[in-house]
Amino acid sequence: MSSMKTFALCVFFTWASFCMSERVELNIRSVTSVAKTDEDFICATIDLWPSTKCDYNQCPWPKVGLLELDLKNKVFANAIKAFDPLRIRIGGSLEDQTVYKIGLVTKCPHFKNKMNVRRFGFSNGCITMERWDELNHLFNETGAKVTFSLNALRGRKLEKKNSTLWVGDWNKINAQEFMKYTISKGYKIDSYELGNELSASGVSAKVKARQYGKDMIVLSNLVKRLYANSSYQPKLLGPAGFYDQDWFNEFLQVSGPGIVHGLTHHIYNLGPGVDANLINKVQDPYFLDEIAQTFKDVSESVKLYGPWSGAWVGESGGAYNSGGKHLGMSSTFDHKVYCRQALIGGNYGLLNTTTFAPNPDYYGALLWHRLMGTRVLQVSHDGSPYLRSYAHCSKHSKRGDITVLLINMSNSTTFIVNTRNDLNLYPSERTVRLPPREEYHLTPEDGNIQSEVVLLNDTPLKLTKSMDIPNLNPAFASPLDPIKVAPDSFVFAVLRGFDAPACSSS
Ligand SMILES: *[C@@H]1O[C@H](CO)[C@@H](O)[C@H](O)[C@H]1NC(C)=O
Ligand SMILES: *[C@@H]1O[C@H](CO)[C@@H](O)[C@H](O)[C@H]1NC(C)=O
Ligand SMILES: *[C@@H]1O[C@H](CO)[C@@H](O)[C@H](O)[C@H]1NC(C)=O
Ligand SMILES: *[C@@H]1O[C@H](CO)[C@@H](O)[C@H](O)[C@H]1NC(C)=O
Ligand SMILES: *[C@@H]1O[C@H](CO)[C@@H](O)[C@H](O)[C@H]1NC(C)=O
Ligand SMILES: *[C@@H]1O[C@H](CO)[C@@H](O)[C@H](O)[C@H]1NC(C)=O
Repeated sequence: MSSMKTFALCVFFTWASFCMSERVELNIRSVTSVAKTDEDFICATIDLWPSTKCDYNQCPWPKVGLLELDLKNKVFANAIKAFDPLRIRIGGSLEDQTVYKIGLVTKCPHFKNKMNVRRFGFSNGCITMERWDELNHLFNETGAKVTFSLNALRGRKLEKKNSTLWVGDWNKINAQEFMKYTISKGYKIDSYELGNELSASGVSAKVKARQYGKDMIVLSNLVKRLYANSSYQPKLLGPAGFYDQDWFNEFLQVSGPGIVHGLTHHIYNLGPGVDANLINKVQDPYFLDEIAQTFKDVSESVKLYGPWSGAWVGESGGAYNSGGKHLGMSSTFDHKVYCRQALIGGNYGLLNTTTFAPNPDYYGALLWHRLMGTRVLQVSHDGSPYLRSYAHCSKHSKRGDITVLLINMSNSTTFIVNTRNDLNLYPSERTVRLPPREEYHLTPEDGNIQSEVVLLNDTPLKLTKSMDIPNLNPAFASPLDPIKVAPDSFVFAVLRGFDAPACSSS
C-alpha cells in the first residue's frame, strides 16, 4: 500500500523533472537503552558580553548580556517559561575577570574596551547584588534551573609577563560572600561551575590540571559548608573548556571521587559565525562525524577516570538546524546536559536580539525538551549518511512509547522512512491497532534554510497576540504509513504503543 504511494509521488515529481527519494528502514533496538540524559537535557547560556563586544565588524551582543539584558521583556520570560524548566548557564569568557559587589569588594567597574588590558580586550567587570536580585526574580518567575559560573582566575598570577599560564591557588573569598548572600535570599542555584575555557591550552589564559583539580576540592568544601543547613546541595561543574584527554583525565584524578558532578566541555566546531562556508559545513555529514569523536572521547574519559561524573556540553555554537544533530549525537554518547550558546546574543542565539522572538532552533530545542525522554535507544539504518536518526523513550512514556528524531541533511533527496522494532516480528498485524503517530515536521520557510521563520507541519511558528510561545501541535499519521522527511527538514515522530521494553518501566 505504501509503495503505491511512493510510486505516485515519484510520478508527480518526475513530471516536475526531479524525483529523488530513498526508502529507508529504520531499525530500533528496543530492549535496552544505550545511554541516559538528565531530566533537563536542554540548556541555554546567558553570557556576560557587553554591547561593545564586536568582531569582524559585527556587534552581536546588543544589550543582551547578563548585565544589560531587559529582564522585563515579556517575550523573554515566556520563552524561558515554555520549557518548564529551562536550564540556564550564566557564564562566558568574561566571567573570570568578574567580581561580585559584596563583602570586601566595594568597587564595581563596568567592562570597558581596553586593548592589551586584561583578557579579550576588556577591563574587569562586576555584578551588583541588585542586579543579582533582579535576575533571580526572573528565574524564580520563569522556573529556570540555574548554573552559575564562578570567577576562577581570582587570586592567581600570570606566570611570566608574556605567558597565558596563570599560577597560584584560586581565591575563594569573593565567591564565598556571593554564595552566602545567595543562600540568605533563598535563591536556588542548581549548580556552580568554576571558570571558563582555562583547560589545556586555554583561550587567552590557562591553568594546569593539577591546580584546577585542587581548586575544585576547595570549591566543593565551600559549598558543603555553606549549604550544610540547606535542603539541597548545588552540584559542581567544570572545567568548562575545550577537551584535551590528558588535561581532563588529570583534572578528574586530582579532584577525585564525588567532586565533579558534570564534566563540562565546549564545542565550537563550526568556526566563526561569519564563515561564508558555514552552511555547507553544517550540512556535511562527514564534518559532523568529527564532532561525534569528541563526544565519544569525553564520555570515555568519564568512564575511565570519573565514573561519579557525567559529561555535559557546557557551551556550544550553532547554526541553522545544527541544533538537532548535536543534541542527538551528544545524548547518544551519554551526555547528560547540552548548553547552547546562547539563549540570546551571538550569531546564533535561540532568540532574536532585537525582537526577542524565537529563532528556528528555539523550536527544535523546545520540541526536544517536550518529546524526548531521558533514555536513549540505539537506531540504525542502511540509507544515505544525509539522513540522521535518533530515538529516545518518549517523555512520560507509557506502553513503551518512543520518540524518533529524523534529520534530512540532503537538499535533493526525500527519505521515506519505515520504523522497525527489532523485537517485533509481525509488525503490520500489531500496528493496525495502534493509536495514530504524532508527527512534528519542521521545515524552513520558502525552503530557505537561513530563514528566520520555521514551519511546523506547514504552519509558520509565530508568537501569539499576547506574546506567548505558540502551541506546538502535532499532525497525525497512520502508524502503517512511512514517515516522510522533506529536504532540509527535521521530524519528531512520537510512536505510541511501540512497546519498547527499555521504555516500559519508569
Ligand atoms: C520562587 O520563590 C518562592 C519564594 O521564595 C518559592 O516558594 C518558590 O518555590 C520559588 N519558585 C521557584 C520556581 O523556584
Ligand atoms: C610574546 O609571545 C608571543 C606569542 O608567543 C610572541 O609572538 C611575542 O613575540 C612575545 N613577545 C615578547 C615581548 O616576548
Ligand atoms: C547551620 O545550623 C547550625 C545550628 O543551627 C549553626 O550553628 C550553623 O552556623 C549553621 N551553618 C550555616 C552555614 O548556616
Ligand atoms: C531580528 O528580527 C528582525 C525583525 O524581524 C530582523 O530584521 C533581524 O534580521 C533579526 N535579527 C537576527 C540576528 O536574525
Ligand atoms: C545542495 O547541496 C550542494 C552540496 O551540499 C550544493 O552545492 C548545492 O548548491 C545545494 N543546492 C541547493 C539548491 O541548495
Ligand atoms: C531531504 O531533503 C532534501 C533537500 O534537502 C529534499 O529534497 C528531500 O525531499 C528530503 N527528503 C525527504 C524524505 O523529505
